[in-house]
Amino acid sequence: MSATARKTAPMPDDIRAMKGGTPIVSLTAYTTPMAQMMDAHCDFVLVGDSVGMVLHGLPSTLGVTMEMMILHGRAVARGLTRAMMVVDMPFATYEESPAQAFRNAARLMAETGAGAIKLEGGRHMAETITFLVARGVPVMAHIGLTPQSINTLGGYKVQGRGAAAESLLADARAVSDAGAFSVVLEKVPAALAGQITADLPIPTIGIGASAACDGQILVVDDMLGLFSAFKPKFVKRYATLGTDGEAAIASYAKEVRARSFPGPEHSFSEKAPS
Ligand code: KIV
Repeated sequence: MSATARKTAPMPDDIRAMKGGTPIVSLTAYTTPMAQMMDAHCDFVLVGDSVGMVLHGLPSTLGVTMEMMILHGRAVARGLTRAMMVVDMPFATYEESPAQAFRNAARLMAETGAGAIKLEGGRHMAETITFLVARGVPVMAHIGLTPQSINTLGGYKVQGRGAAAESLLADARAVSDAGAFSVVLEKVPAALAGQITADLPIPTIGIGASAACDGQILVVDDMLGLFSAFKPKFVKRYATLGTDGEAAIASYAKEVRARSFPGPEHSFSEKAPS
C-alpha cells in the first residue's frame, strides 16, 4: 500500500508485509518541519544518528547521545501523523548487553513515541535483537557499512565485496532469524543486495545498495543538498537548498547594508491596518 493511500500510521508488521511489493519509501528527519514535509510521502521516517553530523557538526556519529536522539525524536514525532517513526540507538547504548539495550530502547520508545528502534550490527547483535523483540521492542537492523564502526571498518568503505559476501549474507540471515522486522543494507554491492533481498523473508532497505532492495532510505539533508561536507556516490541530489539558501542570505545581507530592506511594505505606520 502506498503512503498516500494509507489512513493510519503503519506498524512494524505493516512494513514487514511490504516485502516484495511496492518499494518502501523512507528518509531521515530530525526536526518537526522536515517531518511534516515527508509525512505524506514516506512509509517510515528514521530519526538517524546521522543527526550528529548533519545538524550538530560532529565528525562522525560516535558522539551522538541518548539525549540528542530523544530531543530530535520528540521533534519529529510532532510532525508525523501517518508515517511510522523509527529512532536510532546511539553508539555505546546497546552493545554491552541485551539488558543495557532494553533499558535504552525502552527509554527511546517511551520518551519519543517511536514505533521501533534501529541498531547496527549483524551476527553479534542477534542475541540482543531476540531479547528486545521478546520484550516488545520492534527492531530494524542495519548491516553493511555501519557508521558507528568506522574505526574498525577502516572508513566509509563498500562492504561485502569478494570473500566478505558470505559473511554479510550470514549477518543478514542472523538479524532476520533473530526477529528484526526489516534490515538496512548500507553500501553493499548491487548483486549481493539482490541476493540478500531474495534470501530474506523481511524487507531490505537500501542506502547505496541498489534498486534490488525492498525499499530505499536517504539522509534528507543529502538529497536536498543541505549537507555538503561530502557527497557519497549513492546520494542523488533532488534540490540544491544549501546553495539556494546561501544565495538568499547573501541577498539579505546586501539589502540590509544598502538599506533597501526592510522596505515600506515591511514597516508599520502610526495608523492601522497593521
Ligand atoms: O543515521 C542514519 O541516517 C542512518 C541511515 C543512513 C540509514 O542510519
